[in-house]
Amino acid sequence: MTISINVNGKDHVVEAEPDTPLLYVLRDDLELNGAKYGCGLGQCGACTVHIDGKPIFSCLTPVGLLDGRKVRTIEGLGSVEKPNIVQKAFQDEQAAQCGYCIAGMIMRAQALLDRNPSPSEEQIRVHMQSNLCRCGTHARILRAVHRASREISSATMDGGAQ
Ligand code: FES
Repeated sequence: MTISINVNGKDHVVEAEPDTPLLYVLRDDLELNGAKYGCGLGQCGACTVHIDGKPIFSCLTPVGLLDGRKVRTIEGLGSVEKPNIVQKAFQDEQAAQCGYCIAGMIMRAQALLDRNPSPSEEQIRVHMQSNLCRCGTHARILRAVHRASREISSATMDGGAQ
């Protein structure tokens, strides 16, 4: 089946069965390898991307449901040379140990900060709960989300963009 999807602002046409997980299409067809396969069961969050601004598990999302929807992946935020505020905060706090979970963590954090740039500690903890880090860098990840929140606030006050 031919499926049209918009990823990071670009339209793509892919040939896939409608029940193919979005994660496979991103990685195998579009060569966007930031989202990772962890559990394949919606239990780890390594595959987190946004659909219409909401964080979802791409391992559980059939690509056939995405016609006309907007997908955003870690590659749509920034680059190694030019990370966005959230990516930079994760770097600055050295939130990654092995790094496998980090793209998913950043995408989940970005979704929160997009809708609430100044979340409380409790809101961050609840929001980030569905993403797991097996290395145990959760404390650094929480610090990174707080740092990103502060930097978004100060960029907003300076009139800068995220
Ligand atoms: Fe999707 Fe674990 S790979 S939640």
